[in-house]
Order: sequence, then structure tokens, then C-alpha cells
Amino acid sequence: MQTALRTSLPEIEPAGRANFVPHARVAREERPVHVSGLPLGIRGLRKSFGDNEVLRGIDLHIPAGQFVAIVGKSGCGKSTLLRLVAGLEKIDAGSISLGDEVQAEDIRVMFQEPRLLPWARVLSNVEVGLGRDRASDDAHARAEEALTEVGLADKRDQWPSVLSGGQKQRVALARALVSRPRVLAFDEPLGALDALTRISMQRLLERVWRDQGFTAILVTHDVSEAVALADRVLVIEEGRIAHDVLVNAARPRARGSVELTGLEGSILSHLLSADDRT
Ligand SMILES: Nc1ncnc2c1ncn2[C@@H]1O[C@H](COP(=O)(O)OP(=O)(O)O)[C@@H](O)[C@H]1O
Ligand SMILES: [Mg+2]
Repeated sequence: MQTALRTSLPEIEPAGRANFVPHARVAREERPVHVSGLPLGIRGLRKSFGDNEVLRGIDLHIPAGQFVAIVGKSGCGKSTLLRLVAGLEKIDAGSISLGDEVQAEDIRVMFQEPRLLPWARVLSNVEVGLGRDRASDDAHARAEEALTEVGLADKRDQWPSVLSGGQKQRVALARALVSRPRVLAFDEPLGALDALTRISMQRLLERVWRDQGFTAILVTHDVSEAVALADRVLVIEEGRIAHDVLVNAARPRARGSVELTGLEGSILSHLLSADDRT
């Protein structure tokens, strides 16, 4: 199934690089030009909290640079899965592999709450994402670059408290991007935003993914968001991946298109039928 998707790869040739022929052919579909992401392999992954068997055997392969969305009803284990992948929680059984060369700063997680430090200005908040590189000479420059990427260069000296909800999430995104992660995990990052801000953030996420080529794993309860952004949507049910749906629509995607709406409907019906069984 992945082959169909992969053959329509790379693209988005910015004008100045149009002579780079292998990528120019599919320039319209706006996929990452350079894949910096790591592949993710999960086998037989299990996780319980006491008697509560949350993940009961997850098997999954995500190719480097793919954008995957994870949906499922509340409490099905989406955040637990992300936390395990990010190494924030210990696995009970099975394995998670991100390749041999993986380092802690290669993986970043962005949450629904921006979690900014209120006593630090915007630029310093972004620098936090550099971890131990924060002391390096180019820390300011890297943080400024990340802020520019999210369109907030002019807010560098502001306090977080004066920013809107959407702007705070953009700072959180810059903090996640500043270390140039190779896997970016998003746990319902747009869940608290109003509809319009959410759509503009979705576009921003898609753009930074396309520009940087990391592997993206997005947990969302919004199925239309999942099909708008992801190459592939996984539905978790009863601790396993119950459906693995490929989204082959070309990018940039027309929201509300017949193709996306149809996919959204079929994923929603999976979710609702699971709900009826419980
Ligand atoms: N640290 C924890 N201790 C005990 N139970 C937990 C913990 N984290 C999650 N759970 C439980 O695991 C289940 C899955 O949680 P979670 O992964 O947060 O679900 P989701 O993100 O899909 O809504 C829930 O029943 C939740 O109560
Ligand atoms: Mg959750």
C-alpha cells in the first residue's frame, strides 16, 4: 500500500531549485524535498496501568518522513503511545525502534497546552528546546530562525502572557522545531484553538513538515484534520491498530473535497461502530 504513495514523492521545488530534475517532476504535490526523519518500527508493544491494559499489541512501521495521524476514542491509548515513542514512559513488552543513530534531541513532542515559561521572553522559551545546545554560540540565531519559521520573529522580546492562544502554540512549535527534530509527535496540539486559528495552524504544520522532512505523528480527535494533514490515518481500538487508512490525495489539499470528505466519513464510521460495540 505504501508503494503507491511513495512513487508520487518528493516535490515542492522552490523556483530556485527547478533544475534539480528528479524532484521537479512532482513539484506540485508539496511533499518534503529532503527527508530528515527517522523511520519508526513498533512490534508487539504492550502497556498497562495496573489492571488497565491500554495497548495490547501494537505493530507498526512508519517510513522516514511520513506524516501519520492517530485517531481513536478518548482513553484508547493515543497519548500513551506517543509518550512511549518519545521515551517519556516505559514499555511493558515489545519494542520501539527509531534506528541506531537516534539521540534524545531527535524526538520532540508538542502538547495541547503550550507549556511556556511565563517568566521567560518568547525567544528564551524557544531556546529551551535546544536542550544542552542552549549554551552554544548560535543558540540565539537558531531560536530566531525557528521563530521566523512560525511567523513570529517580531514577538521575540514579548512575554508569553501577551500572546494569543494561537501565537502561544506557534511559540511551542518553534521550541519543538529549534533542535531540528527527526521525529515530531503532536498530541492534539490544536485542540484548544478556535476553528480559524486551527486551520491556519494546520497549514503551518504541513508547511514545516514539508520544509524540514521530519517524521510526523499527530494525535487528533478531529478526523477532518487527520485527513487534511496526514499521509496515513491509524485508528486505535481496543489497544490495537484496527484500521490503517492511506490518504493519497495530492497536496496542497483542498479541504472539503469529495475525496477527503469521503475518507473522513469512512474513518468516522469506523470510530462510531467501535463505539457502538462498547
Ligand atoms: N500515568 C497513568 N497512570 C494510570 N493510568 C493512566 C496513565 N496514563 C494514562 N492512563 C490511562 O490509560 C488510558 C489511556 O490513556 P491515554 O493514552 O491518555 O488516552 P487517549 O490519549 O487516547 O485519550 C486511560 O484509561 C487512562 O486513564
Ligand atoms: Mg490523549
